[in-house]
Amino acid sequence: MRALTVRPGQAGSAGVQDVPEPPVADGPLLVETLAIGICGTDLEIAAGDYGEAPPGEDHLVIGHESLGRVAEAPADSGFAAGDLVVGIVRRPDPVPCANCAVGEWDMCRNGRYTERGIKGLHGYASERYRISPDFAVALDPALSQVGVLLEPTTVVAKAWDHIERIGHRVHWEPRTVAVTGAGPIGLLAALLGVQRGLEVHVLDVVEHGVKPELTRALGAEYHTQPIGEIGLAPDVIVECSGVPSVVMDVLYQSGHDGVVCLTGVSPRGRNVTVDAGALGREIVLENDAIFGSVNANRAHYEQAAQALADADTGWLERLITRRVPLDGYADALQRHAEDVKVVLEMQA
Ligand code: BGC
Repeated sequence: MRALTVRPGQAGSAGVQDVPEPPVADGPLLVETLAIGICGTDLEIAAGDYGEAPPGEDHLVIGHESLGRVAEAPADSGFAAGDLVVGIVRRPDPVPCANCAVGEWDMCRNGRYTERGIKGLHGYASERYRISPDFAVALDPALSQVGVLLEPTTVVAKAWDHIERIGHRVHWEPRTVAVTGAGPIGLLAALLGVQRGLEVHVLDVVEHGVKPELTRALGAEYHTQPIGEIGLAPDVIVECSGVPSVVMDVLYQSGHDGVVCLTGVSPRGRNVTVDAGALGREIVLENDAIFGSVNANRAHYEQAAQALADADTGWLERLITRRVPLDGYADALQRHAEDVKVVLEMQA
């Protein structure tokens, strides 16, 4: 069968290859892959900057944002042929650490977790894959066009889950949220903010097109100025751009008792000069809480599936700005100016 693979560490090595059928050892569910979402992590892997092949192999099947249809399922698996399904990305470390042992692999403490399509396990960008029901999530059939957005939605479902847990360290009545970066993660973070009844502000440098349109369609406000210039001291900031200067800016801008969540994986090697004393002073004197958030556990997949089911499907469809056949993978791995989410269609 065909799969999109890379040689980790080797820029420009992405290609469609013939690979063996998925091994039964991967799990009793056989899934036909419908769509694979491409994100910044995939671009980093394709550039040779990230990613790890399974032990003893030199290539990695990429693809961690997936949507598939169950082709075969054992009677007692909780799944049936025809079900729409999404595969969870991370697997617990083998020790397991205390968090992986209780299903919180997103909070793995020793870094020995694996991730399908990213770290040590083949991903979902093959025509078929196998999976254990424990790591598969069933989706509402109404999400057949947009279910590939589940995985990025899990990332923001986790971020919001932790924002709320942290917020509740005190009496907490949040009203405003700022989201920096109007890529898929930012727009989905904004969606979940609106679903929580908050006043949402989205900030991005892009002035026209789908990003401001989708923001306004949510009933949220769109800004192209830096966060320090919009005259807001938000109760919550969700940083989704990963741009180093923006990351620094958001640390100063939350309101008192603010919760700032960093979700963007920033590039290394960019220096920004800061007055560390002033920053530390502000964080202390305002009781600010700043934290990072990555990945998601099964509970977040369930929360994200609910968030997508509650959203306007038309809005979610507009988030997918390009659909590219598998053979067009090279173009899918190039950023276009008007991209929000690019999706590979896996069935010819
Ligand atoms: C994925 C996460 C993953 C992270 C780090 C992100 O793109 O969505 O599931 O944990 O990359 O590898």
